[in-house]
Amino acid sequence: MSLQELMRDYRERVETVLEHNLPAASIYPPSLHQAMRYAALDGGKRVRAMLVYASGQALGVSLEQLDDPASAVEMIHAYSLVHDDLPAMDDDDLRRGKPTCHKAYDEATAILVGDALQTQAFYVLAHSPRIQAPAEQRLRMIECLALASGSRGMCGGQAVDIAAEGQALSLPELEEMHIHKTGMLIRASVTLGALCSEQFDEDVLKRLDHYAKCIGLSFQIQDDILDIEGETEELGKQQGADAARQKPTYPALLGLDGARQRARELHEDALASLTGLDEAADPLRWLSEYIINRRT
Ligand code: IPE
Ligand code: IPE
Ligand code: MG
Ligand code: MG
Ligand code: MG
Repeated sequence: MSLQELMRDYRERVETVLEHNLPAASIYPPSLHQAMRYAALDGGKRVRAMLVYASGQALGVSLEQLDDPASAVEMIHAYSLVHDDLPAMDDDDLRRGKPTCHKAYDEATAILVGDALQTQAFYVLAHSPRIQAPAEQRLRMIECLALASGSRGMCGGQAVDIAAEGQALSLPELEEMHIHKTGMLIRASVTLGALCSEQFDEDVLKRLDHYAKCIGLSFQIQDDILDIEGETEELGKQQGADAARQKPTYPALLGLDGARQRARELHEDALASLTGLDEAADPLRWLSEYIINRRT
């Protein structure tokens, strides 16, 4: 199977699962549920879901057992984007080729959409009848996703990002910010996939986590590069938004070539950490390469 086919399969799968795991638009209160579905369905590359699938598959877990964790991570991610786009944060009008949630609805609705997507993710993890791993592992999944999403993870990174507008950060400070705002949720995606395995080994989990740290950072470096090099239409979000808000970014600090070089080094490091894992881990290898070469 080619990477393209694999990615298409993973995407179609998680889309169906999200459809099912989000409350129907007809359920009380319909306006909020419609807006949640607007923000979370029919859009996005689904990289985090793909990582849950690829990490679980590397350890022999069936796709069915990975479906609910994959959808949970995408709900947290969709919530983070809705809030990231709010006027008080990045103030963006376009997301995934559509008006941002607060533009299509209103700000109060967008705030509540984020809140409700976040809690729905934890509901899905706690409730899922399809996760076969022991209860302690399910608890660890919930713990991991909570840590990655909160003040010591994504929200913490977002706080630093907002405070850093117009400021000059050092390279270590910039990396620390990226590791939190983007890297932690990507790490959680890989860990959740592995925790679905009924007999995972802590050493393999450590190696997968190192892989995930590398690609979490390379993912945000490529996002920063695409903000400069990409096209609004292809990206589905406004190109040049970082420069307009004077965001400290990788290319701003290292130049485009330096940023590309750093992403490539991280890809090599990610591959090295998978040494010893057999071809079932190939989707993880391909996804690392995809992350640094993607154009959207
Ligand atoms: C964008 O994430 C926000 C970052 C963390 C860089 P993605 O590029 O994964 O966004 P979608 O899900 O494909 O829209
Ligand atoms: C967002 O980073 C990271 C999140 C936690 C949502 P960006 O602000 O760079 O994401 P985009 O470029 O708007 O997608
Ligand atoms: Mg932002
Ligand atoms: Mg943004
Ligand atoms: Mg960006």
